[in-house]
Amino acid sequence: MQPVLELRDISKSFGPVDALVGVNLSLFAGEVLALLGDNGAGKSTLIKIIAGVHTPDGGEMRIRGRRVDPRTFDVRRARRMGIETVYQERSLGEKQAIWRNVFMGRHLTHRFGFIHVAREKAIAEQILMQHLGLRGAGMDPRAPVTRLSGGERQGLAIGRAMYFQAETVILDEPTTALSLKEVGKVLAFIEQIRASGKSCILVTHNLAHAFNAADRFVIMEKGRLRMQYAKDELTLESLNRNMLDIANGLKN
Ligand SMILES: Nc1ncnc2c1ncn2[C@@H]1O[C@H](COP(=O)(O)OP(=O)(O)OP(=O)(O)O)[C@@H](O)[C@H]1O
Ligand SMILES: [Mg+2]
Repeated sequence: MQPVLELRDISKSFGPVDALVGVNLSLFAGEVLALLGDNGAGKSTLIKIIAGVHTPDGGEMRIRGRRVDPRTFDVRRARRMGIETVYQERSLGEKQAIWRNVFMGRHLTHRFGFIHVAREKAIAEQILMQHLGLRGAGMDPRAPVTRLSGGERQGLAIGRAMYFQAETVILDEPTTALSLKEVGKVLAFIEQIRASGKSCILVTHNLAHAFNAADRFVIMEKGRLRMQYAKDELTLESLNRNMLDIANGLKN
């Protein structure tokens, strides 16, 4: 099976800091990959390279078999190639109405270039109902994003990614600072991504959430991929132990 995403020998430095060193990684359709590792391990840098935010210093990237040209690859192109990233904090413009937020940067337009407001509102409403389960008079696409709880915002961002039919959804710390009930919602969204045959990269410090949601586990340390496991090779306890061993320098 051809991977939807393939990274070969990716490197990235910020001044004297080697944030990524020789990273090789493949991601397959219908797969949820947990990207784990201590603070500063390079997780966010890696997903930002995939999302077109950062340009790698070296290495190759293929998206559904197509080689990506690092000179022209950016966030817009990544999106057009089916990669959507949901950041914990800044993925949603908080002051905006929900419907505007959904179409930020890519409005539906009439033939003459006017924004198709009625259709955008209707679709935003559909996303709220389908992906968030929010119904009735209380939830309105015209309401500001601040009306949504943290979990609902994550859900809206994920719903947006699904509406635009992202092939790959990248989630950076989606469950941090959420209540138990909201965590449940986010994990259910990830399950939907898998069930629809799309793929997901989940960055998290919460091993229980990672173990619950993911099919495969990659542990990074100091810019390198240190360990990879399929779910059937692990228990939550052994995942915990492996992470601790790497952090304590016991695994070489
Ligand atoms: N824009 C930047 N400029 C300079 N250094 C950076 C930049 N982004 C990341 N770094 C450095 O690169 C290394 C990897 O950082 P990165 O944010 O990828 O880690 P992370 O695994 O996401 O950590 P965390 O779990 O704390 O979010 C760190 O040493 C960090 O300080
Ligand atoms: Mg990070």
